[in-house]
Amino acid sequence: MFLRNQWYVAATTKEIGRALLARKILGEPLILYRTAAGAPVAMEDRCPHRAAPLSRGKLIGDVVQCPYHGMDFAPDGKCTHIPGQESIPPRLKARTFPMAEKHGWAWIWMGDAAKADPALIHDYHWNEEPGWEPVFGYTHVNAEYRLVVDNLMDLTHETFVHPTSIGQTAVAETPITTTMENGKVKVSRLMPGIPAPPLFAKLRGLTTIDRWQHIYFDLPAHVRIDAGGVPADTKDRARGLNWMVQNAMTPETERSTHYFWAISRCFEVGDAAVSRTIHGQITNIFQEDCAILEEQQKRLDNDPLNRPLLATNCDAGSVAARKMIDQALAREAQAQAAE
Ligand code: FES
Ligand SMILES: [Fe+2]
Repeated sequence: MFLRNQWYVAATTKEIGRALLARKILGEPLILYRTAAGAPVAMEDRCPHRAAPLSRGKLIGDVVQCPYHGMDFAPDGKCTHIPGQESIPPRLKARTFPMAEKHGWAWIWMGDAAKADPALIHDYHWNEEPGWEPVFGYTHVNAEYRLVVDNLMDLTHETFVHPTSIGQTAVAETPITTTMENGKVKVSRLMPGIPAPPLFAKLRGLTTIDRWQHIYFDLPAHVRIDAGGVPADTKDRARGLNWMVQNAMTPETERSTHYFWAISRCFEVGDAAVSRTIHGQITNIFQEDCAILEEQQKRLDNDPLNRPLLATNCDAGSVAARKMIDQALAREAQAQAAE
């Protein structure tokens, strides 16, 4: 069901600190914390002794003390202390997972630890690029991650789901082109000479614009959207709106998703009021998506006829993305069977 030999966003770097953060990822309950030296740690939220939840325990220095019989576990999962017992059996070890920090997020690798190369972390460098400013957000979605990917790969829905902010007739009416570029799915929609949608008008005072959307999908569930608009026929980016909508979906369970997002913009950089407006508006927009996605999931789960989803032209990007996921899952299953 899930690709395991991949880096997933586990949290924002700011979320992980000197307290135990309980979070389920790929269906597995985990605890996330930082050592005194600042290194992020991901450990299974299950004591290897009698399966008590370590998240209810205490972080003492760098070790986690189990809330049940008080055994201590180090950041590498090894038991370092058993109350009333000298010898420590080596099998008394909590599972831990490699972590790395990049682009404002803390990443976790839940597959073969030997393959966890930080160079493989998805490129979201717009979060620290000079001349760009990110706004980070998080949306919990009670729907599987592929439905969230579908939503972002097909922005036709903006017209109907987000009419008061980024939606407008031209989005749904303009056909897309879908291609493969460097192993990623790319969907483009160019909309010259159209009225600015409400949010573009509000943020940049735009009226008639040349609007664009370039959407890129990469494994396991990354969707980056280069979106914007400039005053029509000017190509004048300085007066336009351009942002990278960076979306990292991490499956929580088979039916729920941690949706981490960062909107990095190259206008009004350093203006905290603009950042607040964008955070509020985008949070609302993703809540509008969430309302549909969660209902979709319910209908898929409760369909007595177990019908498949259907695809039309606008789904070309999501279909290609799902195909990439399926092929990667098959490759992982094959490699595992060969081991
Ligand atoms: S269950 Fe954790 S120490 Fe016993
Ligand atoms: Fe949306």
